[in-house]
Amino acid sequence: MDFSISISASPHQTKTPAIAIGVFSEGVLSAAADAVDRASSGAVRAVIKAEFTGRVGATLVLRSLQGVAAPRVVLVGLGKQAEYTPRAHARAEQAFAAYCVQARLTEATSTLAAIDCPTAPVRDRARAAAAACGEATYHYDASFGKPDLNARPKLKKLTLQFADAADRAAATLGLTEGGALAHGMSLARTLGNLPGNICTPTYLGEEAKALGKQFKSISVKVLDRKQIEALKMGSFLSVARGSAEQPRFIVLHYKGKPVAAKRGAKAAAGPIVLVGKGITFDSGGISIKPAATMDEMKFDMCGAASVLGTLRAVAEIGLPGEIIGLIPTCENMPSGTANKPGDVVTSMSGQTIEILNTDAEGRLILCDALTYAERFKPSAVIDIATLTGACVVALGKVNTGLFASDDALAEALLAAGKQSMDTAWRLPLDDAYQEQLKSNFADMANIGGQPGGAVTAACFLARFTKAYHWAHLDIAGTAWRGGGDKGSTGRPVPMLLQYLINQA
Ligand code: BES
Ligand code: MN
Ligand code: ZN
Repeated sequence: MDFSISISASPHQTKTPAIAIGVFSEGVLSAAADAVDRASSGAVRAVIKAEFTGRVGATLVLRSLQGVAAPRVVLVGLGKQAEYTPRAHARAEQAFAAYCVQARLTEATSTLAAIDCPTAPVRDRARAAAAACGEATYHYDASFGKPDLNARPKLKKLTLQFADAADRAAATLGLTEGGALAHGMSLARTLGNLPGNICTPTYLGEEAKALGKQFKSISVKVLDRKQIEALKMGSFLSVARGSAEQPRFIVLHYKGKPVAAKRGAKAAAGPIVLVGKGITFDSGGISIKPAATMDEMKFDMCGAASVLGTLRAVAEIGLPGEIIGLIPTCENMPSGTANKPGDVVTSMSGQTIEILNTDAEGRLILCDALTYAERFKPSAVIDIATLTGACVVALGKVNTGLFASDDALAEALLAAGKQSMDTAWRLPLDDAYQEQLKSNFADMANIGGQPGGAVTAACFLARFTKAYHWAHLDIAGTAWRGGGDKGSTGRPVPMLLQYLINQA
C-alpha cells in the first residue's frame, strides 16, 4: 500500500477514481460533503433526504455527478455528530476501503480524516486511516494451491485529503506511522495465519533474519538448540524436547537514533524489551488438548508474530531509541521425549518448576526469555502471549489482559491501547495468588488450579521479572478470531507501536 496527502478545499475538482465524503446522521454534512453538494447543485443533500441515514460505516455511491471530477462519490456514514469518536472514524475509513476493494479500484481519495474529532488530533486520524485501509485490504492466500489472483485487493494507493495546509505536517507524520502499522500488522497476521507445518520455529528465525536484511536498523541473532543449552534455558528446552522440530531463540536488536535526553534526565535509559511467545503449535503435549478447534493452536505464536510486526513498523518509521525483541519458539508436542506431568525442570534463573500440566507450556518458555532480558538492563520489559484460556473467559475477545508490576507502565499501555483502538484491561497481580503455585517438589508448580487462571499464569511469570519494570499482555482472546472468519487479527501491534511512539 502506498499512502499520500493532498491539500485541497475543492474535493469536487479532485481527479481520483473515487472520493469519500463523510455524512453524519440527521443530515449533517462534513465540509467536503458540503463542497461536493454545492458543486453538484444539491445532489448530495437530495440523496441523503431520500435514502441515506448516515449510520456509521454505511456507504452509498453516487456516480458521474454533474460538476464533480471524480467518477464516484462515496457517501460514508459517520453516525451522530455529537457522538463522533475515533472508532467511528476508523469504521468509516474501513467501509470506504472495503468499497474500493469490492469495486476493484487501484486508487482512491478519502476526505474523512479531515473531519474534526474531539478526542483524536490530525496525526492520530491520519494514522488510523492508514491502519483501517490496511485492515480492509489484508488478504491471505499463501497456502492455497492456486491463489485466486482476482480475489487479491487491487487498491494500492490511498490519498488523504485535507482542506487546510496547516494540517500537512501532522497528517504526513500520522500517515507514515499508519502505513508502517499496516505493514507490521500484515506481517503479524500472515505469520499467524500460516499453518504450523510451514510456520515452524526455523521459519520464524528465517523471517526474523529477513527483517534484519530489509532494515539496516535491525540486527538479528537466531540461536539453535546447542546455543540455547549453553544458556541453561532448561525450562524452555523441556518444552522443545517433545517435538521433532528444532527450537530457536530469536534476538532482534533495533537501534534508532539516540533519544533526545529529557531535561533533567541523567544517563540514557535502557532499551525496551518485547518478549513474544512463539509456540508454533500447541497440542498440549502429554496433557493433550481435545481435538475440536485444536487447529487454532497454530495461532499460539501470535505473541512472537506481534513482536516481529511491531519491530518492522518501528524500523519503517525510524523511531529513535533502542528496542529488543526476544522470541523463544518451539512446538509443544506429545512424544517419548516430551515433558511428563510431575517432571521437575530447572529454569535459567536457577528456580525449579514442577510441571503439573504440560499444556501450561507458554510460561515455561517465557520464563527463560524473561531471565535472558535482564542482561539488557531494560527500562521496561513487555511480554506478549496467547497464554491462557482463562483470560478469554474473563475478558472475551474485546480486551487484551494486562498485568504489570509497575503502575506507570500499566497506565502507559492502557492509554496506548485506547489511542490505537486496540484496548487492554488491567487484571491483578496480588501476592496472595502466588500461594496457588506452591509445589511439594520444586520451587513452584507451573499451574495454579482453575480459579484465576490468567492471574496465576501472570504470577508465575512475575517470579522471573524482579530485576526490571515489567508488563504482561495475555492476548489469548484478541490475537485471532475463530469460526467463519477464522484468522489472525494483528493485535496487539497497534497498542505496542503506539506505546513505543509515545515513549520515543
Ligand atoms: N495456548 C494456550 C492458551 C489458549 C487456550 C489460548 C485456548 C487460547 C485459547 C496455553 O498454552 C494453554 O494451553 N493454557 C492452559 C493453561 C492451563 C493448563 C493451566 C489453558 O488455558 O487451558
Ligand atoms: Mn498450552
Ligand atoms: Zn500455548
